[in-house]
Amino acid sequence: HKVGAKMGSSCGGVCACSTCHCYIRRGSEALSEQEDKESDRLDMAFDVRSESRLGCQSILEKGDAQVVVEISQESVNAFYDEHPEERRARDAKK
Ligand code: FES
Repeated sequence: HKVGAKMGSSCGGVCACSTCHCYIRRGSEALSEQEDKESDRLDMAFDVRSESRLGCQSILEKGDAQVVVEISQESVNAFYDEHPEERRARDAKK
């Protein structure tokens, strides 16, 4: 959210959905450990991979580290569902 990433967050970041599903491409060692609650919730996401995390549960613990994240299509779709004005602006550019 701080960098303006278009990531869904239907539950508001309380680990009750999977709309913040993302893939950690680099820097996963700088993030908090995955807890059982997150793992259980990820089981409900689409296209889960070994590098999958829930964005809202992945806390950056080393502030100077670089982390590269790919937002899942599921999460991008959720973001635009949550922000129809952003969808209209995106579609107007096409
Ligand atoms: Fe719902 Fe992350 S925003 S689990």
